[in-house]
Amino acid sequence: MADGSSETKSSNQMWGGRFASGPDAIMEEINASIGFDKKLYAQDIRGSIAHATMLAHQGIISAEDKDKIVHGLDTILSEIDSGAFEFSRRLEDIHMNIEARLAALIGPAAGRLHTARSRNDQVALDFRLWVKEELQKTEKALTGLIAAFLDRAEEHAETVMPGFTHLQTAQPVTFGHHCMAYVEMFGRDRARVRHAIEHMDESPIGAAALAGTGFPIDRHMTAKALGFREPTRNSIDTVSDRDFALEFLSIAAIAATHLSRLAEEIVIWSTPQFGFIRLSDAFSTGSSIMPQKKNPDAAELVRAKTGRVNGSLVALLTVMKGLPLAYSKDMQEDKEQVFDAAESLELAIAAMTGMIRDVTIRADRMKAAAGSGYSTATDLADWLVREAGLPFRDAHHVTGRVVALAEQKGCDLADLSLAELQAINSAITDKVYGVLTVEASVASRTSFGGTAPSEVRKQIAWWRART
Ligand code: ARG
Repeated sequence: MADGSSETKSSNQMWGGRFASGPDAIMEEINASIGFDKKLYAQDIRGSIAHATMLAHQGIISAEDKDKIVHGLDTILSEIDSGAFEFSRRLEDIHMNIEARLAALIGPAAGRLHTARSRNDQVALDFRLWVKEELQKTEKALTGLIAAFLDRAEEHAETVMPGFTHLQTAQPVTFGHHCMAYVEMFGRDRARVRHAIEHMDESPIGAAALAGTGFPIDRHMTAKALGFREPTRNSIDTVSDRDFALEFLSIAAIAATHLSRLAEEIVIWSTPQFGFIRLSDAFSTGSSIMPQKKNPDAAELVRAKTGRVNGSLVALLTVMKGLPLAYSKDMQEDKEQVFDAAESLELAIAAMTGMIRDVTIRADRMKAAAGSGYSTATDLADWLVREAGLPFRDAHHVTGRVVALAEQKGCDLADLSLAELQAINSAITDKVYGVLTVEASVASRTSFGGTAPSEVRKQIAWWRART
């Protein structure tokens, strides 16, 4: 379309009526958003078609003009889709780029499209539609990740591994149980996504600049046509509200933070020192100098993307902080943050889903590690309470002495002889060996939400019914 260096420095054709000359080059540069808001073209066109249809239905524009407008917008959609559309920075943003092209295509009827509408409600609509679609994509992606974890959890409901606190061996758990911890985290993320979709499901179009309009528009009609539950209720709030973007970013930041914890575990667990997992070739890279290496780059990048996503949240919060009602141009800075965070999050979830599906679990290594570090010491203390009637504090003390002896001898708890155990506390019988193994330890933890395979299977079934 017409634009470019050959053009003289004339005022903006969309709003330039009162301007004698065009903007300074720097003004144009700081003002233009087309470089990034062109991403909203499909939403902008959908919104305009719904608006024009409503205007005609209400008798505000003629059916003939509406048909021209809709036809012209359809043409523009295919021009942009095919890459034939030339975006112009002089036309600032996606809204004016499309409207100017519409005028070139259909003539004066194009000028009727902006009746009873402002770019303020237009951008609020376009961006809301985009964020809503992104939230729907995120919900799907999280469901895929949850499903990957459920499959691994089912496969490894009985696989014993060390459970950690402070990254020190704490008590034996099952790998299935550990997987289900992530299912809970990503399940909460998904619940937040669903809630945000509900929350934002209101149509901004028709709020106009900020005060509404005197034209007899039907906002319920446009809301319905655009798939919103209902129109927003306050026109001032509508054009100044970016909560939907902030909510998206908050949800994305929490989810990315969860992903970074998972990424960190993958990085640690794939080291030869831990050796709990073996990454697939598809999700790791080699070193250009050290032939033996297999690096967990995908996990590291997921861990790092969290920085971008969390940064985007802080950036937009800072943009919105202290803004007076209603619209201010500051709000144009909302989009890049959301676009960047959305791209990062999508990629991070996809990479993690692939890694979880592909990773090899080294059950032998996990089990060996589970038994080291006196991980069944609590089981011994519990046994002394249950079978020998000791108060827990005394049992804790006795167990501490048993651990000290094993440590001194350089052996596991189960390797100590009955005589050695009885020398510490005479109430101990040979039945105690039944609780010193890691399998017995996990099997005994049948409390609701506990690590026993039977309990983990119940958790899996609960989630299966919800995916
Ligand atoms: N490009 C603008 C934005 O993203 C569109 C709204 C402009 N409205 C205005 N009154 N200048 O926020």
